[in-house]
Amino acid sequence: MLRPMRFEGRRALVTGGGSGIGAATARRLTAEGAEVVIGDINEQGAAEVAAEIGAASAPLDVTDPESASAVAAEHGPFAILVNNAGTDEFGFFIETDPGQWQRVLAVNLVGVLACTHAVLPGMQEAGYGRIVNIASEAGRVGSKGSAVYSAAKGGVIAFTKVIAREGARFGITANSIAPGPIETPLLMAALELGELGEKIVETMRVGTQLRRLGRPDEVAAAVAFLASDDSSYVTGETLGVSGGLGMV
Ligand SMILES: NC(=O)c1ccc[n+]([C@@H]2O[C@H](COP(=O)([O-])OP(=O)(O)OC[C@H]3O[C@@H](n4cnc5c(N)ncnc54)[C@H](O)[C@@H]3O)[C@@H](O)[C@H]2O)c1
Repeated sequence: MLRPMRFEGRRALVTGGGSGIGAATARRLTAEGAEVVIGDINEQGAAEVAAEIGAASAPLDVTDPESASAVAAEHGPFAILVNNAGTDEFGFFIETDPGQWQRVLAVNLVGVLACTHAVLPGMQEAGYGRIVNIASEAGRVGSKGSAVYSAAKGGVIAFTKVIAREGARFGITANSIAPGPIETPLLMAALELGELGEKIVETMRVGTQLRRLGRPDEVAAAVAFLASDDSSYVTGETLGVSGGLGMV
């Protein structure tokens, strides 16, 4: 398919780009001319995707602000930041423990803060930036079996709005995407819970109007819109890419 080259001359950091939605996003942005850097704690996954599409990769642990700063210093400045790295540990809240709260909040919420904090100065200096945060419908409606994850994603949605307010005068937009159930290793990990996991995934599937799981490239298409100048008058929004799951 012939693509517009919306990102020529633009450098983009995609966190968690070694798998799933992040990999699809890296592919899509590269296909439209961006110089993509894939930052991932899974260095091998990042390197493989990078080699496949002709992008760069960098070791990145989003939970560590120093790691985020090092990537920004070595590979930045970035015109586009896609905060995509995420993780979940499924199970009812009553069965969770504080260690699990810390782990899930660290990647899904603190990671977004750390990477945004590292990349923002370069964007402000350039007078231009596009920040796209991969939240979740879980952050809007709450997802049974994912209490801490839902809390983190709700935090990401609120944080994005603040960055939209604070970034506006520097030419920076910030928006969230709320995917529904997307067929990636993260969602499929729920199936390891056996019957409960199957029930969680099936409940999400039938909760969509389209009655199917989404594909990573369907989320990547929405990321590309919000990362491009086609969305120049869109900021502080949360775009559901969920087959109608979160529709109100
Ligand atoms: N799959 C879904 O159904 C779904 C639904 C809603 C939201 N999301 C969100 O989409 C995003 C991408 O998830 P996915 O489904 O593609 O999952 P995935 O497991 O396929 O990919 C997640 C990537 O994040 C990386 N990562 C994890 N911890 C990291 C860390 N500390 N530092 C850097 N990288 C780290 C992983 O190595 C992996 O490459 C996540 O934010 C997730 O919460 C997914």
